[in-house]
Amino acid sequence: AQTVRLAVLPGDGIGPEVVAEGLKVLDVVAADLGLAVERTEYDLGARRWHATGETLPDSALEEIRGHDAILLGAVGDPGVPSGVLERGLLLRLRFELDQYVNLRPSRLLPGVASPLAEPGDIDLVVVREGTEGPYTGNGGALRVGTPHEVATEVSVNTAFGVERVVRDAFARAQARPRRKLTLLHKHNVLAYAGHLWRRTVEAVGAEHPDVAVDYAHVDAAMIYLVTDPARFDVVVTDNLFGDIVTDLAAAVTGGIGLAASGNVDPTRRSPSMFEPVHGSAPDIAGTGRADPTATVLSVAMLLEHLGHPDAAERVVRAVGDDLAARAGAGPRTTSETGDAIAAALA
Ligand code: NAD
Ligand code: IPM
Ligand code: MN
Repeated sequence: AQTVRLAVLPGDGIGPEVVAEGLKVLDVVAADLGLAVERTEYDLGARRWHATGETLPDSALEEIRGHDAILLGAVGDPGVPSGVLERGLLLRLRFELDQYVNLRPSRLLPGVASPLAEPGDIDLVVVREGTEGPYTGNGGALRVGTPHEVATEVSVNTAFGVERVVRDAFARAQARPRRKLTLLHKHNVLAYAGHLWRRTVEAVGAEHPDVAVDYAHVDAAMIYLVTDPARFDVVVTDNLFGDIVTDLAAAVTGGIGLAASGNVDPTRRSPSMFEPVHGSAPDIAGTGRADPTATVLSVAMLLEHLGHPDAAERVVRAVGDDLAARAGAGPRTTSETGDAIAAALA
């Protein structure tokens, strides 16, 4: 039997609650596949930081590197200064493991209610750059606390970084039936980075004559995501725009509780990390109201990444069946939903 070494980082807030359900579903699928999943759980997040002051010790990072994949819940806690865990743990992992493709599919599954009156057939995937942009921490502040304070956050865009993610997006567009790629940026204002992204899409696009290339300014794209989301197929964009766009894409396809993601290193030098798009949701943590479906769908992406597309498809189908069964029923707890999806697998 094949063995998969899985690093599990439940994290904070609803993270551990949804990860438990994701693992429940993974266990069922793995048993059927004859896949042995060797799990290492890492106690990283708010508890660890309070106890030891550590966010991601180097030793843990090196251990995590030795795994085949990572499943993460969410990080961030109201009792920890904002950014300590987000940057020190989550972003550090994405950067250190060079997970430059942040893959965020949004599909309106049958039976799922969209808040849009006429959603149409939404099936898009955002290829969000994962290692650059304003996320690099390349900024600073002067005269802090004075009326003359100056704060800068520099968006870093390298030819190397933009080209590799644009290439990945084109390859994905090429493999999808509609073969369409839309660049979201704002080159009317962000002249330097906008120009680099635009030129790169043009150049790589020339190697993919059967992929239709489109462009939208990111602000206008927010209109289209609400008025005509079906126009999008593969969307490629930078780290910050991609963050914002994918919360809206989640909202129009049934909500943040359904949105899955993968932080992928396509070179496979490092393990890729799968996680729901949502955060630690401190407002509902501990209430049993968190929807674990996004994590279950992230497990499906993990299975696909590890070379089990049939198992991934099975999980997606079980989620689809469960979503249809859920419609009209009363509210459920996190573990009831996990149980229902696991049952739908059978
Ligand atoms: P959030 O995604 O945690 O919550 C936004 C809203 O969505 C809240 O109303 C929440 O209750 C709801 N929600 C989120 N997940 C849900 C689920 N599975 N089921 C039902 N409802 C759900 O975003 P936020 O409130 O902006 O951030 C909270 C904390 O999480 C912050 O510390 C933030 O930095 C962190 N965060 C972490 C990640 C991550 O680990 N990948 C992502 C986003 C935010
Ligand atoms: C996400 C989150 C993170 C991001 C934060 C918590 C660093 O919002 O995964 O979407 O901005 O990428
Ligand atoms: Mn986000």
